[in-house]
Amino acid sequence: MLSVSAKESAPASAAPVTKFRPGAVWPDTTGKPINAHGGGLLYHEGTYYWYGEIKQGETYLPKVNASWGGTRVDVVGVSCYSSKDLLNWEPRGNVLPAVPGTDLDPKKVLERPKVVYNAKTRKFVLWFHADSVDYAAAACGVATSDSPTGPFTYIRSFRPNIQSWPVNLKEGEKDAKGSQLVKDFPVGQMSRDMTVFVDDDGKAYLFSASEGNPTMHISELTDDYLGTTGKFLRIFEGRSMEAPAVFKRNGKYHLIASGCTAWEPNAARSCIADSIWGPWKELGNPCKGDKAGITFQSQGTYVLPVADKPGSFIFMADRWNKDNLADSRYIWLPIEFDDKNAPVIRWQDEWR
Ligand code: GAL
Repeated sequence: MLSVSAKESAPASAAPVTKFRPGAVWPDTTGKPINAHGGGLLYHEGTYYWYGEIKQGETYLPKVNASWGGTRVDVVGVSCYSSKDLLNWEPRGNVLPAVPGTDLDPKKVLERPKVVYNAKTRKFVLWFHADSVDYAAAACGVATSDSPTGPFTYIRSFRPNIQSWPVNLKEGEKDAKGSQLVKDFPVGQMSRDMTVFVDDDGKAYLFSASEGNPTMHISELTDDYLGTTGKFLRIFEGRSMEAPAVFKRNGKYHLIASGCTAWEPNAARSCIADSIWGPWKELGNPCKGDKAGITFQSQGTYVLPVADKPGSFIFMADRWNKDNLADSRYIWLPIEFDDKNAPVIRWQDEWR
């Protein structure tokens, strides 16, 4: 169960949701608070699917994370909800449950799940940030399913772009960029906060915080979306971008990312490019108004192109509660664009 304060607990009966209320408890169609954090959306055959981290149970601070405040809850799995209107979400269960003793162990890390559909293989492919409790493994995990509502079959965890990496490191040894070979993970580029973006031509790309987080990598995925080809681009070296959300508008590629301050909110940055392979240019903070400097107390996770409203985009973010992660909330806000094609996000108490 999610613990929420009595004042804001979700209604017992599932009254239809008629407006987005950023930061409020958001009940699903059964009246329970939606539990899908660090999530992403998939639109498939007229239905939206929302996948996210299930955050429930006690929040604790492992000793190994004490220096940077890396609190956590045990991994439970990946939740899936479906909706036709983006407001009312039906729970479809845990589509990738934790499995003790594997990469999906409750004591490891499973974050930022994103599902894409591969039209060639007709598989739904789930990518996520797979890590050890101290985040040293810095890998990604992949699972597939024949249905958007799962269950997903776990394939493997790995560091992307192994082809381009010196494979002569010994376990525990760091290379010049701070990458380290960690038991059970083959050597490759580090990969933490991530998203997957599918372009109009069906090519897919992994955007992930790499090299210990300071530099973002854009990695081309194989045609089946199950791995990386080895072709990758380093962008915004030293800018420490996390929580990437990628979308395309009027032929231009957009990235909205956060800074790197663990669960604490910081200012978002928006970036633009004519080609996925760059050059990428920063456009500054897309948020405007009160609390814009801390992304309205949230951290982005996804940008949704609204299927039945071409040209409309929604910024999805998490308002993390680092002391009670199960009570983290969602901030969904519409994106406007200025005359230079830069995204602009303004706070609204409620909207539709
Ligand atoms: C954030 C990251 C989250 C989670 C958290 C752990 O920077 O975006 O996904 O990993 O750190 O503290």
